[in-house]
Amino acid sequence: MRKMSIGRGSLCLFAAVIIGFPFATYNFTTFWIRYQDPGLVKSVPHGSGRVNPKFHVAVTASDAPYSKWQCRIMYYWYKRSKDRAGSEMGGFTRVLHSGRPDNLMEEIPTFVVDPLPNGVDQGYVVLNRPWAFLQWLEKAKIEEEYVLMGEPDHIFVKPLPNLAHGKHPAAYPFFYIKPAENEKILRRYAYAVASALHGVKHTLHKEFMVQPPWESKVGKSYIIHYTYGCDYTMKGELTYGKIGEWRFDKRQYLNRPPPKNLTLPPPGVPESVVRLVKMINEATANIPRWEDI
Ligand SMILES: *[C@@H]1O[C@H](CO)[C@@H](O)[C@H](O)[C@H]1NC(C)=O
Repeated sequence: MRKMSIGRGSLCLFAAVIIGFPFATYNFTTFWIRYQDPGLVKSVPHGSGRVNPKFHVAVTASDAPYSKWQCRIMYYWYKRSKDRAGSEMGGFTRVLHSGRPDNLMEEIPTFVVDPLPNGVDQGYVVLNRPWAFLQWLEKAKIEEEYVLMGEPDHIFVKPLPNLAHGKHPAAYPFFYIKPAENEKILRRYAYAVASALHGVKHTLHKEFMVQPPWESKVGKSYIIHYTYGCDYTMKGELTYGKIGEWRFDKRQYLNRPPPKNLTLPPPGVPESVVRLVKMINEATANIPRWEDI
């Protein structure tokens, strides 16, 4: 979640608050904790000093079936959470970086931007995301002062407050963003490096998001992030790295949406995984023409 100040074509990002946009490193986390007094952050109550605490929810997307079905589920749960007590969620935008409208324009509020010019992504299509986001910020009229950058595989499990406070940004520390081990996650480093260069520091919320199967309980988390495959034996034992007798992995559905009414995991599988499958089933049961797109 970030506070935005956009003036006369020049884009000035300050008081950054990003939640859900993966960017941090362990080093970064440690760095931040060392330089901030955690007590100070806690002493700033929600909503203080904010005339309009609402934040816009943005997600970058392509027109591939894989991106579409995830965005539909994300938007479904956004709508279910938005108007409930405790929500400071404002509008929603799918920033579509395919350069042309697709068949979800009427279902999901969408802003079409250009893909990167040929070859610029060097085979790593996800580099389109920061470029898409920048185009959207420059061209769109955004009502809210804050923006939450999400990803299509985020499911809102409850109403989200704005965790940003004035110039105090907030973020989720992704444990796998370690440059030495994982050079591929370039867009995330880009954000971390840019933040560092501009002196933007984030309040990190470890409990903000739960990532099945690694965390077993949804607990107080606001978002389920289903980036990992969940593989289990019928006895409920995790077989990560090996295809399980029961499984849910978003990558099984690259070219088509998952079927409605996925089989629930066997007994013994953690609550976070059960909840994920139930929430996907609820969305797919209620989204009109689920299988058509
Ligand atoms: C979902 O599938 C289960 C069997 O796996 C079945 O008992 C149930 O009736 C189905 N629900 C719907 C809504 O189709």
